Amino acid sequence: MTVKFIDLFAGIGGFRLGLEQSGFKCVFSSEIDKACKDTYFANYGEMPKGDIGEINPKEIENFDILSAGFPCQPFSISGKQLGFEDTRGTLFFDILRIIKIKQPKVVLLENVKHLVHHDKGNTLKVILENLRQLNYEVNWKILNASDFGVPQNRERIIIVASKDKKFEFDKIKTVKRPVLKDFLDTEADFEFLDDTEYSLLVNPTVQKSGLIFAGYRNKAIRKAGVRPNTEHLSRVHKQPNRIYSAEGVHPTLPSQETSGRFFILVDGKVRKLTINECYRITGFPEDFNKISSLGELYKQIGNSVCVPMVAELGKEIKNQFFSSNRNAVVREMQIREEKRENDTYGSITVNL
Ligand SMILES: C[S@@+](CC[C@H](N)C(=O)[O-])C[C@H]1O[C@@H](n2cnc3c(N)ncnc32)[C@H](O)[C@@H]1O
Repeated sequence: MTVKFIDLFAGIGGFRLGLEQSGFKCVFSSEIDKACKDTYFANYGEMPKGDIGEINPKEIENFDILSAGFPCQPFSISGKQLGFEDTRGTLFFDILRIIKIKQPKVVLLENVKHLVHHDKGNTLKVILENLRQLNYEVNWKILNASDFGVPQNRERIIIVASKDKKFEFDKIKTVKRPVLKDFLDTEADFEFLDDTEYSLLVNPTVQKSGLIFAGYRNKAIRKAGVRPNTEHLSRVHKQPNRIYSAEGVHPTLPSQETSGRFFILVDGKVRKLTINECYRITGFPEDFNKISSLGELYKQIGNSVCVPMVAELGKEIKNQFFSSNRNAVVREMQIREEKRENDTYGSITVNL
């Protein structure tokens, strides 16, 4: 029994790597960005289709799992009746359009943690409600990459929708949080900061997340209106100026970044993470082909999903939805296949 998935908003294939590690087979991908598409091709030998808005779901091979780490957009009709109409014109609408026609057994969505509060909670509410209206049982949870074997504090909302029953997030296995220093290169063309360019804290603070705030960069600071002897605080409060210790975890690699923003304290020196280290702490394999410019590579990894987290989700999706009674699962897959062929689902009105 081959469980098939599609990789929407594919980026550089974080979902693909993770779900393939769970034993699933990718049958379709879509990504609009040229540099991401080229990277995807260089690593999986498949050029993703482009703009999701131009994809006709009927041209996609049938599949069991839809995965998508889609960009977060507000829905236009805030507070009004929730439904398909509300999402029109958004990228989530395109996901729904594909779900309606293809009726996958499982939908796996990922987004930034902030989605929970986006548009005062309305965005998440619309997403969940629309999935429920398509007869899915929906559940969601905030997961952190640092619970899946990589030293990066990267929290993401994961939404799992299934035709069967609610996904039980409690069954997901987490591991002890690793430390950054065990993931670092020992030799590379490191970009160090000169001693005069930073200040270290006498008592570094260990945060609940595992981040160890160790110092800050001595960048130009705002002096106007600042109380005497508190000038350094305005540096400290600027997240990019903070220096974290390699004895803890690394902060979230940001998505809009083209130069690698964060500096770390390692063995008494302060340096930037190398691009290889960025990919490693997101769970990408050492032999991943990084063919884009350095600026694009930083952006791509900052946008990517944590691979071992997806692999663990895939393992649990398999346990909970695809392995209880093999014969029943195979029969159910056949029924869905027949229904799709007879276009039973086509009675739902969808504008293509
Ligand atoms: C948050 S990233 C997802 C990254 C991916 N999960 C990974 O692991 O690399 C969202 C992606 O959606 C892509 N995207 C945005 N609009 C799109 C559209 N209309 N059609 C297809 N892809 C789109 C962006 O280029 C970006 O790579």
